[in-house]
Amino acid sequence: MLAAGGGLTHTMSCRSCPLVDRREFLLTSAAMLTTLTAVSATQQEARYPVPAADGASIDMRRQVILVRDVGAVYAFALSCPHENTALRWKAREKRFQCPRHESRYTPDGTFTSGRATRNMDRFPITHSGNEVVVDLTKVYRSDAEAALWKAARITV
Ligand code: FES
Repeated sequence: MLAAGGGLTHTMSCRSCPLVDRREFLLTSAAMLTTLTAVSATQQEARYPVPAADGASIDMRRQVILVRDVGAVYAFALSCPHENTALRWKAREKRFQCPRHESRYTPDGTFTSGRATRNMDRFPITHSGNEVVVDLTKVYRSDAEAALWKAARITV
């Protein structure tokens, strides 16, 4: 329907439009917002069962290494502090090693040899019931935040 100025009247154009139903649009938008919020929440933290035994496991999707060693649990960034190569756990030798330049680290992330110049980077970690909660929004470097790096562990 043409309005006095020559354009379509607002009421007629909205009611006749098959693609835009206001109620459906709002419901879809709310669902999308809920999904985005959930995705955002999962990207900010990761939850894992408390490891039952000493050793390391790697969450490739989140780039997190979870370690239990001698009554403590740590969460490390997967990337080597030297040039960001994914670190590997050598279970038999009970240590980490970088496949690129051979830097080595103890299970608590302490640098022992190679080209790296600091320990493995640690995520903040807390204990919640039977889970460990890893804060993925920050990482502590041993050379820049030594006290925070040292405290980024839980006892089990
Ligand atoms: S990238 Fe790991 S030691 Fe160089």
